[in-house]
Amino acid sequence: MRLEGKVALITGGASGIGLATVQKFVEEGAKVAVADINAARAQEVVDTLPAGSAIAVGVNVAVFAEVEAAVASTVEAFGKLDVIFNNAGIAGGKPLLEHDPAVDYEPLIRVDQDGVYYGILAAGRQFRAQGGGGVIISTSSIYGEQAAELSFTYSAAKAAVISFTRSAAYELAEYGIRAVAITPGRVGTAIINQFSDDLKATFASEQLRNKMTEPIEIANVVAFLASDEANVINGTVVHVDDGYSV
Ligand code: NAI
Repeated sequence: MRLEGKVALITGGASGIGLATVQKFVEEGAKVAVADINAARAQEVVDTLPAGSAIAVGVNVAVFAEVEAAVASTVEAFGKLDVIFNNAGIAGGKPLLEHDPAVDYEPLIRVDQDGVYYGILAAGRQFRAQGGGGVIISTSSIYGEQAAELSFTYSAAKAAVISFTRSAAYELAEYGIRAVAITPGRVGTAIINQFSDDLKATFASEQLRNKMTEPIEIANVVAFLASDEANVINGTVVHVDDGYSV
């Protein structure tokens, strides 16, 4: 129960890595706001959890007022906020020279980049108002540190997540706030499951255990990073990519 007494807001909590993290956090004793653009699915997740341990919050992380409202709903339900996991994200892309900026750049930046900025800002203000402390964990990607096919916009947004994390740690240390980014490799979730079996086999072969990472394997690390045991991990990137980047 390493998260006993903690309150966490988890975006993208209705599916994949976010869902596994919601379940892990509740197991570890936390109260959790399951925040997702798919509010109905978030409520279904909450319905599977012990009564009183979680609430569902509909949020589009690309809209600052909605992120602020999600933080307020969490505090209203559980009295405070200790952890935000900025994890909601979308993927996809075309070759750069085929881009229509309105389709292939702007929407993804709004969610994967702006959404994390809004989470850091809204949670950071709440942490300060509570008198300090708090942990900000944000989901980047292996692509945040390298170029890849069809990933021009996604790589940019995920690189921004790493930069935001460093700067947030630097600026917010005076309030006792920590910030950490994680870079998953190939995780078996909806984002990846849309690809062909051949491509999925290739993805798996790029990791050192030659298999896709399970969402719970990422959630286990996030739970540790959110806990007080990780107090000296700050302003940095934790690679959770099964050796993809060696
Ligand atoms: P997923 O598709 O299973 O879950 C993403 C969740 O985010 C969904 O529940 C979706 O409804 C929600 N979401 C999407 N747009 C939203 C918005 N505007 N506001 C609020 N919620 C929104 O995918 P997965 O894999 O769990 O993705 C989680 C994060 O992990 C994403 O940031 C993704 O980029 C990142 N990631 C995933 C990897 C993988 O291999 N699956 C690898 C590296 C990073």
